Amino acid sequence: MTLTPEQVVQQNTSICFLNGEYLPLRDAKVSVLDRGFIFADGIYEVIPAFSGIPFRLEHHLKRLEKNLQSIKISNPYTMVEWHKIFSDIISNNNYLDTDCSLYIQVTRGVAKRDHVFPENSNPTIFVMLNPMPPASLEKLEKGLTVITRQDIRWQYCNIKSISLLGNIMLKQEAAENNADETVLIRDGNVTEGSSSNIFIVKNGVIKTPFKDNKLLPGITRDLIVEIAQKQKIACEETTVTEKELFNADEVWLSSSLKEVSPVCSINEKPVADGKPGKHWRNMYQLFQEYKASLKL
Ligand code: PDD
Repeated sequence: MTLTPEQVVQQNTSICFLNGEYLPLRDAKVSVLDRGFIFADGIYEVIPAFSGIPFRLEHHLKRLEKNLQSIKISNPYTMVEWHKIFSDIISNNNYLDTDCSLYIQVTRGVAKRDHVFPENSNPTIFVMLNPMPPASLEKLEKGLTVITRQDIRWQYCNIKSISLLGNIMLKQEAAENNADETVLIRDGNVTEGSSSNIFIVKNGVIKTPFKDNKLLPGITRDLIVEIAQKQKIACEETTVTEKELFNADEVWLSSSLKEVSPVCSINEKPVADGKPGKHWRNMYQLFQEYKASLKL
């Protein structure tokens, strides 16, 4: 049954945070003059929380801080204050024993419509929680399917901007082609997925595009690189060409919601033998061990 837009809002009774207040999501309201609504003038974060504990919190908050700086909004809270908001949201929604993801959005706030930044607006700060069901092992065993498209986005893809029109148009193309994700190509090189980072494996060497303005510096991506380095698995942050993508032994996608997932088909052609590879299995295992080690 498809819910009407009104039902989507009305049925969401989860507790969110809006500008200093905790309230049911269905009662949370923002002015139509908010620059987030008018200009998509803001940034966001997505933080997974396992058994109530935000994962790689410091890394996410550092990225949030950097993103705010890059669009000239001063960070409204300290790390300790952010942490308190997340803990409150998690406990208010009874997610202390279950996995969820936190969505954080900060916009430049309400002002008369003018392209120039307002001199004295207060940022709009919003945090909500979404359930995060565990990844289906069946889906992982089948592997993800992707299509490739030209990366039509702007030049600051390193900023986690709420202006996601390019990303969602590209993701929609995946959905319309019964694929899970769209992998983006700029000037013959792979950048990332429409909502994920990308890895390839060739002859036992893991490769992922190096971080610059063409891709989001994913927290999951960085953790995978960190795990590989710790385990002395060959891993390069380098240019990955479209040709290398098509000739890879393995292809993986990473994100806070997907963790590390194998890709088994690109543009309807199998990746190697069309099954998740041994290097992915090893990284998946190491990733789960890392997560488990934090709960001890
Ligand atoms: N997206 N690249 C893009 C364009 C993304 O949107 C994301 C995540 C990533 C992976 O980053 P991380 O590992 O920090 O989640 C890479 C989030 C989950 C989203 O928009 O919902």
